Amino acid sequence: MAKEHKDIDLRPYNSFGVSQLATRLVEFDSYDDLHATLTADPTILAGRWRVLGGGNNTLFTADYDGTLIHPISRGITITAERGTDVVVRVEAGEEWDDVVAWAVEHDLWGIENLSLIPGQAGAAPVQNIGAYGTEAKDTIESVEMLCTDTLNRLVLGGEYCSFGYRESIFKHQLAGRVIITAINLRLSRTASPRLDYGALRAEEEKLGEPTLSNIRKAVISIRESKLPDPKVLGNGGSFFKNPIVEPEVAEQLLTTYPDMPHYPAPEGKVKLASGWLIEQAGWKGRRVANVGVHDRQALVLVNHGGATGGEVMALARQVVADVKSKFGIEISPEINIVG
Ligand code: EPU
Repeated sequence: MAKEHKDIDLRPYNSFGVSQLATRLVEFDSYDDLHATLTADPTILAGRWRVLGGGNNTLFTADYDGTLIHPISRGITITAERGTDVVVRVEAGEEWDDVVAWAVEHDLWGIENLSLIPGQAGAAPVQNIGAYGTEAKDTIESVEMLCTDTLNRLVLGGEYCSFGYRESIFKHQLAGRVIITAINLRLSRTASPRLDYGALRAEEEKLGEPTLSNIRKAVISIRESKLPDPKVLGNGGSFFKNPIVEPEVAEQLLTTYPDMPHYPAPEGKVKLASGWLIEQAGWKGRRVANVGVHDRQALVLVNHGGATGGEVMALARQVVADVKSKFGIEISPEINIVG
């Protein structure tokens, strides 16, 4: 049954730990529950609304005058077996890392490199979460959603989700038009370790054979060593995307900075590392009043306590400006800024 909260403090609902109010927050525990709630109360979709998952990728810079729709639906079920492939249906409100832990326990390959990414399963396709050479799109078979124009159920195959680096159709054509209710993952019983990311291979080798559980342990240990725990220090993971530039731009920078990390990107372009650019611009570990740049991973902005969303944004703008003046590159936020 949907539960409704009025004038709710969003601090427990965003990993930055900023305190803003929302006029209304509606939780749903299944597709049917969501459908029934929206049908019974048309004011929800008639006004301002958005989906709030785990709040790990959202920075509120003002009170939210509208309705936040928050999935609390749970359930991980095997729905089909095709040879060694297994289709697993996951309700949107599951914690993503619980899904990874479940897959590892059930000896299913595909998402182990995405261990410990904070957030809910329903958010995974939106920004096509990715880490250590794996992206959610590699295993998403389809996404189930409620279409807010028609209140009908829609199932979209992964191939139609326009997945890209931290991109999908849910950030563009379908933004504000659907509510994701479940995802279907295609996992495999066949071992397929992906250890191309050097640091992951090195960490995994310390543990022995590349088993699912060793890979998960290695990813967790790398993430814990670099990324702050939002329960201890408010943050939203990578605040910025890594910029993708034309090859001539990368070549030009490499003549001045031969050690600059760079990776091949689609269409012959080159991906640079925002963390490196920010560190070189002198921001790593710097603190400005209540906010700062994390001391072990410069991509992450942190709330040292009591910060407002506005303060985080002011810091972000300074970082962007300094990177732009040093390298001529404009880095952009990966985080959703809701003002
Ligand atoms: N680097 C620095 N200084 C820093 C941070 C990074 O010099 O402060 C350098 C590293 O030494 C490395 C390069 O930049 O040469 C890339 O760094 P890293 O491998 O740590 O990965 P990243 O590009 O900083 C991305 C994702 C992370 C993901 C890691 C691992 C984005 C925006 N971020 O970070 O995702 O965990 O790769 O695959 O693509 C997230 O989205 O919240 C997130 C943590």
